[in-house]
Amino acid sequence: MLSIDSNIFRNVLGRFATGVTVVTGYFDGGLPVGVTVNAFSSLSLDPPLVLFCLDRSTGSLDAFVNGNGFALNMLGKNQQHLSDIFASRKEDRFSGIDYETWNSGAPILSGCLANLECSLEAVHEGGDHLIIVGRVEKLMQADEGRPLLYYQGRYAHIDKLD
Ligand SMILES: Cc1cc2nc3c(=O)[nH]c(=O)nc-3n(C[C@H](O)[C@H](O)[C@H](O)COP(=O)(O)O)c2cc1C
Repeated sequence: MLSIDSNIFRNVLGRFATGVTVVTGYFDGGLPVGVTVNAFSSLSLDPPLVLFCLDRSTGSLDAFVNGNGFALNMLGKNQQHLSDIFASRKEDRFSGIDYETWNSGAPILSGCLANLECSLEAVHEGGDHLIIVGRVEKLMQADEGRPLLYYQGRYAHIDKLD
């Protein structure tokens, strides 16, 4: 097997600029959960599918893998604090956070560039991550705004948009 240095691997992958999302769901019983995720991708137009990749060690894994659905909240450039909170070890990540719920009960964070509510379509193995596929059931987008970006382990903004 080809051995790849994990630091170099991480560094090389960091050269791919991404947006930032907070994926939300809830535990059986209704406790909301949320995780900052940049491993997000559109997958299919018909049916409308998206995917994200979740580390198997994520504390809230069960809420996404065995739940009925989840929401993907795409962060705008002024929402870096949300990315930090949902990537932290903070116990109650939702205290003081403004959100509503739609059909699934997953938190729809306020002020995002876009929100997608999904039903769980499939879960695939992906090494130390799981690939979670959702079918988009409902969505909303802001009229304007710019994205929060992540590049080489740092947050970034778009300064030119043609
Ligand atoms: C910008 C950014 C992107 C991230 N992307 C992912 C990701 O795609 N998948 C993932 O599993 N963790 C990702 N993380 C790490 C999780 O957000 C973090 O480990 C989270 O706290 C895990 O939740 P837990 O404390 O409930 O285990 C990312 C963190 C940051 C700051």
